[in-house]
Amino acid sequence: MRVGVLTGGGDCPGLNAVIRALVRRGEEVYGHQVVGFRHGWRGVLDGEVVELTIAATDGLLARGGTVLGTSRTNPLKRDDGPATVRATLAREHVDALVVIGGDDTLSVACALGDDGLACVGVPKTIDNDLAATDVTFGFHTAVQTATDAIDRLHTTAESHDRVMVVEVMGRHAGWLAVSSGLAGGADLILVPEHPFDIDAVCDHLRHRHEHGANASIVVVAEGAQPVHGTLSLQDASVDEFGHVRLGGVSSTLAPEIEARTGYETRVTILGHVLRGGTPTAFDRILATRFGLAAIDAVHDHDFGTMVALRGTDIVRVPLADAVRKMKTVPTPLLEDAAVFFE
Ligand code: F6P
Repeated sequence: MRVGVLTGGGDCPGLNAVIRALVRRGEEVYGHQVVGFRHGWRGVLDGEVVELTIAATDGLLARGGTVLGTSRTNPLKRDDGPATVRATLAREHVDALVVIGGDDTLSVACALGDDGLACVGVPKTIDNDLAATDVTFGFHTAVQTATDAIDRLHTTAESHDRVMVVEVMGRHAGWLAVSSGLAGGADLILVPEHPFDIDAVCDHLRHRHEHGANASIVVVAEGAQPVHGTLSLQDASVDEFGHVRLGGVSSTLAPEIEARTGYETRVTILGHVLRGGTPTAFDRILATRFGLAAIDAVHDHDFGTMVALRGTDIVRVPLADAVRKMKTVPTPLLEDAAVFFE
């Protein structure tokens, strides 16, 4: 078989490890040829193809980002997009496509799969918000990076008697915020799942500082929203999948905290730093297992599926399940984190 692979949406550590693994087993065990499409679905529309061999993918295990490049292009939003995808795959003699992405990229695979395209999905997002898998690779690395940053912010916050507002990614779900906040000993965590009340935030900080604390760390997910009508955030632009480009809630929040409490407040937006760098050992292993399982699914002609982690097992689930439901942070986990807020 000739198998295509693409990486779409925001990059994350571990994408290259998936590519390396599926090429290794695909070529060595199954005798398949693997080609990569550059820049996600855009490369399929534009016919940008590269040959992926064991030699060409050697050394990719620890490399961050994606050697194929990525984009947020949505072929379903282009005139003749699905027909162009089919034409490219036919011209390149590609029998099946491995699509590595989050809910947006995979929703395209799902729709084109319903139309007969032979697709297997691999879940990816540092936001960790795909319901069909227990965890996505890249998340663990991002949590570690954010935790390292929070550790450092504690000492400078204490030196200066400051409130530090630390913003992490997480558009619809607060997994990164709650995980790094727990690991980093945050004094308050704000997540998209629960709109925050600026009065309550300031009361909490005042309470801490009046009872001995001289510094506070507030971890906020970029998608956290104030209770309706209490604080206005900047308007954001929208991408081809209709998602707002976030990043900046902390720039509104921090001056508001300082104005209301009188505590000097600073902002650190970790943003894309969390998507960069080499994957942790956990993410290298998970990404490798996903890559191996994806090429197995292709070899078995088990199309319309996505590989997923359930417990310690890699399983196949219907692609439709992956895009149907978002995994948000359960309230008990937030309550566990709140035990340490006093
Ligand atoms: O991929 C998801 C994500 O990491 C979100 O948390 C964030 O809002 C978005 O990517 C940022 O994307 P971009 O790289 O397009 O700015």
